[in-house]
Amino acid sequence: MKFSTVFALSFAAATVALPHRVVPRDSSFALQNGQQAIAQNAQFATLTANSSCDSGTNACVGSSFAQCVSGEYVLQSCGSGLICAALPLVNSAGTSITCTTQSDLEQRIAATGATSGSNSTSSAGSSVVASATAVSSAASSALASTTAVSSVAASASSSAATGGTATSASASAAAPSSTTASSGNDTAAQSSLTLLDSLINTGFEDDGTNDSEAGEIASATSNNNFINFCSTINLPLTNGTQVKNGSCNAAPMGVIASTSAMPSAKFVNPPNLGSVTANQNFTIALAINNLETGWFVNPDTNYFAAPQQVNASTGLIMGHSHVVIEQISSMNQTEPTDPTKFAFFTGLNAVAENGQLTATVSGGLPKGTYRMASINAAANHQPVLVAVAQHGSLDDMV
Ligand SMILES: *[C@@H]1O[C@H](CO)[C@@H](O)[C@H](O)[C@H]1NC(C)=O
Ligand SMILES: *[C@@H]1O[C@H](CO)[C@@H](O)[C@H](O)[C@H]1NC(C)=O
Ligand SMILES: *[C@@H]1O[C@H](CO)[C@@H](O)[C@H](O)[C@H]1NC(C)=O
Ligand SMILES: *[C@@H]1O[C@H](CO)[C@@H](O)[C@H](O)[C@H]1NC(C)=O
Ligand SMILES: *[C@@H]1O[C@H](CO)[C@@H](O)[C@H](O)[C@H]1NC(C)=O
Ligand SMILES: *[C@@H]1O[C@H](CO)[C@@H](O)[C@H](O)[C@H]1NC(C)=O
Ligand SMILES: *[C@@H]1O[C@H](CO)[C@@H](O)[C@H](O)[C@H]1NC(C)=O
Ligand SMILES: *[C@@H]1O[C@H](CO)[C@@H](O)[C@H](O)[C@H]1NC(C)=O
Ligand SMILES: *[C@@H]1O[C@H](CO)[C@@H](O)[C@H](O)[C@H]1NC(C)=O
Repeated sequence: MKFSTVFALSFAAATVALPHRVVPRDSSFALQNGQQAIAQNAQFATLTANSSCDSGTNACVGSSFAQCVSGEYVLQSCGSGLICAALPLVNSAGTSITCTTQSDLEQRIAATGATSGSNSTSSAGSSVVASATAVSSAASSALASTTAVSSVAASASSSAATGGTATSASASAAAPSSTTASSGNDTAAQSSLTLLDSLINTGFEDDGTNDSEAGEIASATSNNNFINFCSTINLPLTNGTQVKNGSCNAAPMGVIASTSAMPSAKFVNPPNLGSVTANQNFTIALAINNLETGWFVNPDTNYFAAPQQVNASTGLIMGHSHVVIEQISSMNQTEPTDPTKFAFFTGLNAVAENGQLTATVSGGLPKGTYRMASINAAANHQPVLVAVAQHGSLDDMV
């Protein structure tokens, strides 16, 4: 299958200042938020783990954060000493469902002046709306404040406060945070909109400047795995498609291949400095190592849409390759090429035979000088990712 679109060989590094705005308190909604929080917490008190619920909504059951998946609550412990509660938002209208302490809850509600619940709230049945500013505005010190809600609806354009009930879950600072990614391997975790505590990369909170070398700049940081990063970017979501004007992609990078499973390749035909007869069919042969070939998803609907995966028994990236041929002015061209222009492109989607992937260039190419490169990729077309920064080329170019 031929692509009509060019693949970039590398990711551009994004250096983005994540918003941390402090908006002056506006008392016009404070009281209402407090009343709404009281009413929501009263309703939560009536819920049990067996209560029916609307999928996609969040609530508190006992002291656990509860997310409704397929009509049933999936509970997540808030951790020792913490409760789950609806808190009044500070900077916009609405409430936030989160793990907190009893005293924090009481202080926040007292600060709004509310003493009783309003009955105008939509409470636990309200739909999940992500609001990055609303969540970060909760100036709680003890909490890791991990924003947990995210959906396609929380797209680039909807980062502004919505005015409605904004629900979120905060990970408890008290809960242990391991660095293994193996916990929560169940279908509920895979359909949940809540980030598991065990998956928070606390290393992402460090901007790297503490012990940096000359020339290193501060990294963007996150305490919630950047799960709502795309709300800070004024671009459409990639959403599985090849968005020519650029987009923001949300899929995790996934499984990173070990140093003993780094792909590499070498062209067998035409070989480096080789030549073929102009305007006649020729066959490209690429010898490929450490890539489990034959894994190729729909590039129109699933581009960058899933994490890189490896074969669990061999550790090899499950993917495929491509070959691109670009005309150059001569063997000693030093001008950078234009990646939007190429003479031939094809996916090498089949399983390698005898360690080689092949493709026919039908009709050959006009007389000229060409550069030919492989583009090794994971199943969802992202460039292959490996364990270390310093490694030999994962591709070949002749
Ligand atoms: C929930 O239902 C299960 C059986 O389906 C029962 O064992 C359990 O006691 C119930 N829990 C509550 C809190 O009602
Ligand atoms: C609750 O609703 C009832 C009737 O719908 C109304 O009379 C009452 O004033 C409301 N209470 C509050 C606190 O808004
Ligand atoms: C996670 O669950 C899936 C599906 O049940 C299974 O194929 C996979 O091996 C499990 N992974 C781990 C790390 O247990
Ligand atoms: C910075 O580095 C020092 C020495 O390695 C360490 O003690 C300190 O905790 C670090 N601070 C942060 C914010 O990482
Ligand atoms: C994402 O893709 C799905 C499936 O094609 C589509 O229904 C949905 O509208 C898209 N969402 C956005 C925000 O583009
Ligand atoms: C892509 O960007 C160009 C230049 O900014 C603009 O003219 C064009 O309308 C955009 N196309 C789409 C589909 O957004
Ligand atoms: C993983 O690799 C083994 C050994 O080559 C192979 O037998 C198996 O089919 C592969 N599994 C998948 C899911 O490709
Ligand atoms: C490139 O090589 C050609 C001969 O193949 C030579 O004529 C030309 O001067 C060279 N150009 C550069 C920039 O070295
Ligand atoms: C050239 O390749 C095409 C496509 O593979 C094939 O249909 C055609 O028969 C080939 N021509 C010759 C002369 O081999």
